Amino acid sequence: MHAGTAVADANQSRALPIHLTAGFVFDDFDQAAARFGADDPGFSYTRIGNPTTEAVERLIAALEGGVEAVLLSSGQAAIATALLALLGGGDRLLTAASIYEGSRSLFLENFARLGIATDEVVDTRSAQAWERAIRPTTRAIFAESIPNPRNDLTDIALVAEVAHRHGIPLVIDNTFATPYLLRPLEHGADIVVHSASKFLSGHGTVLGGVVVDGGTFDWSAHRDRFGQITEPAPGLDGRGYGDIAGRAAYSAYLRRAVVPRFGPTPSPFSAFLIQQGIETLSLRVQRQSDTALTVARWLEEHPEVQSVDYSGIATNAYHDLARRYLPHGQGSVFSFTLRGGREAARSTINRVQLFTRMTNLGDVRSLILHPASTTHTLRSPEQLKAAGIGQGLIRLSIGVEDADDLIADLEQAIG
Ligand SMILES: Cc1ncc(COP(=O)(O)O)c(C=O)c1O
Repeated sequence: MHAGTAVADANQSRALPIHLTAGFVFDDFDQAAARFGADDPGFSYTRIGNPTTEAVERLIAALEGGVEAVLLSSGQAAIATALLALLGGGDRLLTAASIYEGSRSLFLENFARLGIATDEVVDTRSAQAWERAIRPTTRAIFAESIPNPRNDLTDIALVAEVAHRHGIPLVIDNTFATPYLLRPLEHGADIVVHSASKFLSGHGTVLGGVVVDGGTFDWSAHRDRFGQITEPAPGLDGRGYGDIAGRAAYSAYLRRAVVPRFGPTPSPFSAFLIQQGIETLSLRVQRQSDTALTVARWLEEHPEVQSVDYSGIATNAYHDLARRYLPHGQGSVFSFTLRGGREAARSTINRVQLFTRMTNLGDVRSLILHPASTTHTLRSPEQLKAAGIGQGLIRLSIGVEDADDLIADLEQAIG
């Protein structure tokens, strides 16, 4: 709640002030020139930096235990820029197969058009599977801490060990867990990304994303692979990003040479809204996780329910990882599958009254979605089957309502 706000607090305002301005006044000629140099920390233009945005960046970096964070206009912008700072044409990305559909399409379609190929690992619990998929040009590994929508948890330490043995940074999307439940950097991840549109903000009124630099990856040990970060760069007076930023070399490169050029800058107003949400993150996420466990346990006993994909349940195949990585709660987005298939899913979703039919998650309101007919429509029936996304599968994002009310709504809807 308190980290970071001092940056924007020159007038002793208790709440975070919103610096809603495109640019910042230069005192004189020399100050303008200095602001365009490598070593002046002052603000010049909001696409490069803004006090409100910077306060929120410091807050999130502190929550994740990173050295720096860069705030972006959406989660997709965070994932795209985090990886484009590492990958260029001819490089390969290695990713868990079970990830958010938007990220998967970004890698398999958009990155492919830039000459960046993607390899997928299905059996993410197997170190050998990760090992086998690494190629000489693999430059980044990507996975979600709690994958969307199946909850097939990532063993972050296992993947980090393989990644580091091959000199490759590990990027973890921590959107579902939030730093309240899990801090991937503590388990060996090098970079953390989030959709801040979800739990970090929590109110469902804003889009945002963030990239957190753990400051742990030794870029200088791999100069041949990450020259864009280590070698002298334009505008740095013959220095590389490691020379000007030390451990925060990656985020310095991202902030100065990637994000402002691609341009997915968040509005300072969005930054403020995200910060407002973060003030209650711990309260919301604990309550949402506790309620999700209660609802998941109830669903598991329901005769019409074939399976429940929630790692908090003792019978779940990922429960051992949940105990290790998510001891305080297993998150509040999960799926369950109805025996009656698509028709049962249709009637359940049409009949809910308290749950909102919506494709967002992490909101204080509980949300319900049928992935096979919405988020996953680009996948063939065979691909859906391989991903475990059946026609009877429904995704829930549990909000802060009473568990009893949510269960009553599901009970009347499932029938
Ligand atoms: C795990 C995950 N990462 C990233 C995103 C993309 O975030 P945004 O919608 O803020 O671009 C989503 C969106 O649902 C998501 O679920």
